[in-house]
Amino acid sequence: ITSLPLLSRGKVRENYAVGDDRLLMVATDRISAFDVIMAEPIPGKGEILTRMARFWFGLLHDVVPNHLLDVDPETVVAPDEREQVRGRAMVVKRLKPLPVEAVVRGYLAGSGWKDYQASGAVCGVALPAGLELASKLPEPIFTPATKAELGEHDENISFAQMERAVGAELAARVRDVSIALYQRAADYAAQRGILIADTKFEFGLDENGTLTLMDEVLTPDSSRFWPADTWAEGSSPPSFDKQFLRDWLEGVPGWNKQPPPPTLPADVIA
Ligand code: C5P
Repeated sequence: ITSLPLLSRGKVRENYAVGDDRLLMVATDRISAFDVIMAEPIPGKGEILTRMARFWFGLLHDVVPNHLLDVDPETVVAPDEREQVRGRAMVVKRLKPLPVEAVVRGYLAGSGWKDYQASGAVCGVALPAGLELASKLPEPIFTPATKAELGEHDENISFAQMERAVGAELAARVRDVSIALYQRAADYAAQRGILIADTKFEFGLDENGTLTLMDEVLTPDSSRFWPADTWAEGSSPPSFDKQFLRDWLEGVPGWNKQPPPPTLPADVIA
């Protein structure tokens, strides 16, 4: 897209300015895991992620406002660029993003499972003893993470660390809203045979300071989706998302999994 100013190019998405107060968010077909962007795109992926995000924004809009605007992306680009954004873009409100990722977990997987094995807790949330990989948690838990820049790793942080980053009141609201969003989506999916093991939300504040859901929501890039009928504690379920890529990367010899330094200021991390 050359008709709009490029604001940021993420691992998967590109954001363009539409005037001062809106963005065009374009989901490419790129796939990434950890910090690796694969050379080979997955045709149609950006379109599927966009359709899913639009669906969930619609289903969840009464839980919390979201950034999606009712504007056809094809109307904000040059005529010869319409094809490029068709089905894979959203026009959204420009927000002030919060510097944390709001992860909710209903089941133990990924870094949640690793943290639990190491300490019996995830992000400082103590969990009962004896849980296994893929165990259902007694209640969904909120486990924030830092939002790393391109090329850096996200890190799980405690709720107290998040409070120091955004303030106690906002941290509590983000936690409560995230759990409510997860619960609503997980109930919807469970009725259709899919378990949402965990997911990540991102929020921003609008011009009035209203907490607003942003980015993509409940897509296979930001969630773990498991088929309910084959789920069992103690084993890694098939995952309808990008878990296959994470598993594959972890087996690549020489791939450096050491996290670089955290991106929040030292006093927030400490
Ligand atoms: O890897 P981890 O177990 O911490 O991920 C928890 C959930 O958050 C997963 O659903 C994952 O897809 C999502 N996540 C994400 N973006 C990140 C980190 C985690 O969407 N940067």
